[in-house]
Amino acid sequence: MQEKLSIHGAWSNRWVFILAATGSAVGLGNIWKFPYITGENGGGAFVLVYLVCILMVGIPIMVSEVLIGRRGRQSPINSMKDLAVESELTTKWSLAGWMGALAGVMIFSFYSVVAGWVLYYVAGMANGDFIDIGSEMAGKRFETLLGDFETLLIWHSVFVIMVMAVVAGGVNKGLERATRIMMPALFVLLFILLAYSMTSGAFGQGFDFLFHFDPSQLTWDSVLVALGHSFFTLSLGMGSIMAYGSYMPKKASIGGTVVMIALLDTLVALVAGLAIFPIVFANQLDPGAGPGLMFITLPVAFGQMPGGHIFGFLFFVLIAVAAWTSAISLMEPAVAWMVEKFKIKRLPACTALGVLVWALGVACLGSFNFMSDFKVAGMTFFDLMDFATANIMLPLGGLFIAIFAGWKVKQYALQDELAMQRFWFSAWYFAIRYVAPVAVAAIFALNLYNKFA
Ligand code: PFF
Ligand code: NA
Repeated sequence: MQEKLSIHGAWSNRWVFILAATGSAVGLGNIWKFPYITGENGGGAFVLVYLVCILMVGIPIMVSEVLIGRRGRQSPINSMKDLAVESELTTKWSLAGWMGALAGVMIFSFYSVVAGWVLYYVAGMANGDFIDIGSEMAGKRFETLLGDFETLLIWHSVFVIMVMAVVAGGVNKGLERATRIMMPALFVLLFILLAYSMTSGAFGQGFDFLFHFDPSQLTWDSVLVALGHSFFTLSLGMGSIMAYGSYMPKKASIGGTVVMIALLDTLVALVAGLAIFPIVFANQLDPGAGPGLMFITLPVAFGQMPGGHIFGFLFFVLIAVAAWTSAISLMEPAVAWMVEKFKIKRLPACTALGVLVWALGVACLGSFNFMSDFKVAGMTFFDLMDFATANIMLPLGGLFIAIFAGWKVKQYALQDELAMQRFWFSAWYFAIRYVAPVAVAAIFALNLYNKFA
């Protein structure tokens, strides 16, 4: 029987899928966001909750997304629709795909702003701007950047164009080609920097901060942040992994592949934390400094090392590459849907979406200067995009996906697609039917209760 394939193309082999999905997962979430939200939420206790979420909620949902994508072989919106039809359900399930595509655009808008900062730092490091910089100067420099609308706009625009150029190339000539070049580069850079951070001393205090468990630090707010981050970091709840799954070869096993991706993502986050916190403490900086944490601490550390600007340069190149491969996956669900729906080529689809994302991104940039007074529930536009996606839309999307895969799709379809050993299938089935939906619903409910009671 001829294997059903996506009209958009297919990965050449299982490894390309693993690398592409890892490229989607490993991004600013690991290197920029994880350290600063860990700092804001008190360290070890937060990390533990986050790891539990990855294991009990993230991995089972990632399996479901790959499964749905590979069985549907289309954009998430249309794959959900077809699978619903196959299981004799209402096509309203495709609404989960819609929310996902929207979340992708919203995430991209603030993601691109931060990626723009990263590009600015790549250029600055190459220029030697940060040699011998102290922590006060580094803080000032970052603040100046945030106030400088034009510079922000330039780098944000550059990043949007970089991403669109790859996505417009399609699955094989765009996504796969970028993956094959960028992912090996990412691993090499990460390895160099890990070796560097381990020899740079002051390891103990940073290690302690990450892994010392103090339950008194935990609030329901921080549990919600940990849950939301487990979705964000694994690119779940919005269809990126589903879209990538739709290009996956049929023979490859889903379970083992997913575990590998989750493991790599977690490893990169922990390594990033271990690289950043020792520096924070060694320079008496505040671990709760927020989004600027990475942009202030790292230049300080690199600025003081002999040859540090070279490592600093490599580090920001690494972050830029990681952000690039992730942002590509943020656009893929919406682009694939537009191509299916309007029967257009990728370039016009990418251009239309690129303009939309770019405009939203300008509002995010403005949060740091001309729109800094615009606040909704105490949040700037930038914070709002982040909060609404990571803490609400992604977990909600994940909840729908878990209910859909666990309770709605016919069991034979699941078994056929997963082809797992009985034990592992049962473990996954239990997690997706009970553990994941209950955990997400309970954490939502408790937070609402705490807000209004
Ligand atoms: N997983 C990416 C990160 O950790 O930076 C961010 C992301 C990419 C989130 C793609 C969601 C997504 F669909
Ligand atoms: Na990640």
